[in-house]
Amino acid sequence: MDLDVLNDRIDDKPLHEALSFLAETFPGQVVFSSAFGQEDQVITDAIFKNNLDIEIFTLDTGRLFKETCDLIDQTRSRYKKEIKVYYPNSEQVEELTTKKGMHSFYESIENRKECCYLRKVVPLQRALQGAKVWVTGLRAGQSDNRQSFDNLEWDEGNQVIKFNPILNWSFDEMIDYLKTNNVPYNKLHDQGFVSIGCAPCTRAIESNEDARAGRWWWETSKKECGLHQIKIKATA
Ligand code: ADX
Ligand code: SF4
Repeated sequence: MDLDVLNDRIDDKPLHEALSFLAETFPGQVVFSSAFGQEDQVITDAIFKNNLDIEIFTLDTGRLFKETCDLIDQTRSRYKKEIKVYYPNSEQVEELTTKKGMHSFYESIENRKECCYLRKVVPLQRALQGAKVWVTGLRAGQSDNRQSFDNLEWDEGNQVIKFNPILNWSFDEMIDYLKTNNVPYNKLHDQGFVSIGCAPCTRAIESNEDARAGRWWWETSKKECGLHQIKIKATA
């Protein structure tokens, strides 16, 4: 189905209806990647509560916070559903840490991207094999980079349709959904963490900082790990 036609069919539909439409259109070929952030928990709730035919997976980099691991288990038991966990290639990680040590990502952007590539991007490619639609929890309000994303887009690198169903939700809308539906959340949010990634690469933020300031806080520009392509906006 053409992307524009698909977009017309799901545009303005409530979250669970849009997901349900895609699940029915591409049976067994819709997957959702969850990092167990607040955005992800909204989508997980919609998928599990409505018994949608969408696999939920997470990429365990081997460097996650204990609180994130706790939330994976809380979510499993709350909904009584399985969550598929993907790991990096053990030989690649062994080689990285043997040659460069446990904290090479602090030494240069190149090293940091190498670690993200091995621990996240390569496993993502495996997770997306056979999928037609990749659902994510991206939200435009998270960063300037993400303002250029579309709800529904063609991901050339991964050769899948990418669906970002809560892209245009505000932070307050998201929190309201989580509270109203009593959805389990990462306890680190109560300690000032907003965007949560790997433990050595994430810190809490101050109220005047942007949502992603705590990610790779020692870097200054374009703080993305390579899972999501950044689109350069044309300027007039
Ligand atoms: S990242 O690119 O900086 O790592 P972020 O943490 O903001 O991404 O999460 C944005 C979306 O990317 C999540 O909603 C999720 O769909 C996907 N994602 C990021 N990290 C993971 C992960 N470890 N496992 C699965 N999905 C992830
Ligand atoms: Fe490695 Fe840090 Fe990227 Fe996690 S966020 S994969 S620890 S560089």
